[in-house]
Amino acid sequence: MTNLAVFASGTGSNARRIADFFAHSDCARVRLLVCNKPDAPVLDMARERGIPTQVIDRAYFYESEQLLSVLAEHDIGFIALAGFLWLIPPYLVQAYWRRMVNIHPALLPAYGGKGMYGMRVHEAVKAAGERETGITIHYVNERYDEGDIVFQARCSIAPDDTSADIARKVQALEHEHFPRVLERLICPTLDDNTTA
Ligand code: GAR
Repeated sequence: MTNLAVFASGTGSNARRIADFFAHSDCARVRLLVCNKPDAPVLDMARERGIPTQVIDRAYFYESEQLLSVLAEHDIGFIALAGFLWLIPPYLVQAYWRRMVNIHPALLPAYGGKGMYGMRVHEAVKAAGERETGITIHYVNERYDEGDIVFQARCSIAPDDTSADIARKVQALEHEHFPRVLERLICPTLDDNTTA
């Protein structure tokens, strides 16, 4: 059983899907929620499920390595970034090399990089007149959205889709795939039928 930490800073719809997907799994369990906004709704989601939370600020994250002790205390073996927008510092990238993935709401390498998050991504995709978009799950390295890609899924964009329509399609893909991709990465040998 692997203890999974989810880092999230906003609504946390992906964090919720991941927590619920693994709640009865033989593979992993969400044992920590790390958040950089003290009033983020994702914290309530975690508390309702009895998942310990750790709120961090910039000094804590970038000027100390205290988070490593917290991760060790909870015996965290894998990290999922689900709407966490801060660049991951080198000490954490190294400690969780190939054991930390991020989800991005577009088909990287397009529409990625600093400042490309949430609705900004969908607005840029719409403005460019793209006919398809999707999601990317990638390992985390020391640069925004640049680690090795482990999974992508696509959806088509109709000419009259608004950026909000695109966001809905992309979010559906995220909810469908992110927990399953995590399961495959964390427990590559687990038979699909053995999990709840
Ligand atoms: C997700 O769409 C995720 O792909 C995106 O933030 C959203 C969080 O939604 N991440 C990025 O844009 C990272 N560059 P949620 O809080 O509902 O899970």
